[in-house]
Amino acid sequence: MLRARLRTRATAVDVDLSVTVAGVRFPNPIVLAAGFDKDAKMVPGLFALGFGGIEVGTVTPRPQPGNPKPRMFRLPRHHGLINRLGFNNRGVAALVEQVRDLPWRPAPIGINLGRNKDTPNERAADDYITCAEAVAALADYVVVNASSPNTPGLRELQKPDALRSLLSGARSALDRRAPRKPLFLKIAPDLSEDAIRAAVDVAIGCGAQALIATNTTVSRPVTGGAASEEGGLSGAPLAPLAISCLRTAAAHAQGRLSLVAAGGIFDAEDAYARLRMGAELIQLYTGFVYGGPATVARLLQGLAALLQRDGFSSLDQMLRARQT
Ligand SMILES: Cc1cc2nc3c(=O)[nH]c(=O)nc-3n(C[C@H](O)[C@H](O)[C@H](O)COP(=O)(O)O)c2cc1C
Repeated sequence: MLRARLRTRATAVDVDLSVTVAGVRFPNPIVLAAGFDKDAKMVPGLFALGFGGIEVGTVTPRPQPGNPKPRMFRLPRHHGLINRLGFNNRGVAALVEQVRDLPWRPAPIGINLGRNKDTPNERAADDYITCAEAVAALADYVVVNASSPNTPGLRELQKPDALRSLLSGARSALDRRAPRKPLFLKIAPDLSEDAIRAAVDVAIGCGAQALIATNTTVSRPVTGGAASEEGGLSGAPLAPLAISCLRTAAAHAQGRLSLVAAGGIFDAEDAYARLRMGAELIQLYTGFVYGGPATVARLLQGLAALLQRDGFSSLDQMLRARQT
């Protein structure tokens, strides 16, 4: 099969880069972030490029069109993107069909959940529960996304009480259908340090296994060009915020929760730095948009070289050494 041959070539490195998070084995730590393949229509082609995992979604219970176009803007000078897509997707039933019919799953598939735009926050938990039940058996891990800036009110759900109801609802829904299915929480980079620590505590208390830091930012550390467009900013300008969020979460979690780094990761040095500061997995979206189809192969080669430079024979060895 051509796809499998391409994948073998893209992932051929001398160092074992596999990592197990929440009991799920990822053949390498480079995962495609949510939002690129919302409806899981491109999964085999994306796996051919070498990704160690693919997170599909955000999916909502019912299909919805998202915001009017234009809704995505490049900031080429800054290596950034601004998007206000607004969870355009074909709904969870269509996603379930797509994922069920996949002919080839060489690495884990995460499914990222949200609420419909017209579901009020008081009933948001129902949307997450509906989606979690629908995807439980098909996903390798499930993500509660309460951090996208383009669904009005969504980020309010990161407050501890609301978050507890979403996460415990999703946790019970998963346990009814697929006990112990890993549950991840994805947070915004715009939370205060106290709010990050509170989110970590709620996630642990509700039986989540990992935290994804971070989604896009509504702040604007850069100006000019498309920077004044409304929406979530990703890519290089997000990196400092995402890093500080990751550091805060890592310091507070103290190993009780796995960490997934996202936000402005473009090359192997970026990825390696996040792994050293506490992440076990790397997600990227904007770096892939700017870097093109060879991005994963380049990152894996670079990561292998950095590990060898530092005297490690596997990624796992480095992650374990980090904790001591
Ligand atoms: C166009 C676009 C659409 C996105 N859609 C989603 C989404 O549906 N759900 C989600 O959790 N994150 C979404 N994200 C956020 C990314 O998954 C990622 O967390 C963020 O962009 C930071 O990573 P990056 O700097 O590598 O892009 C989207 C990002 C972009 C640029």
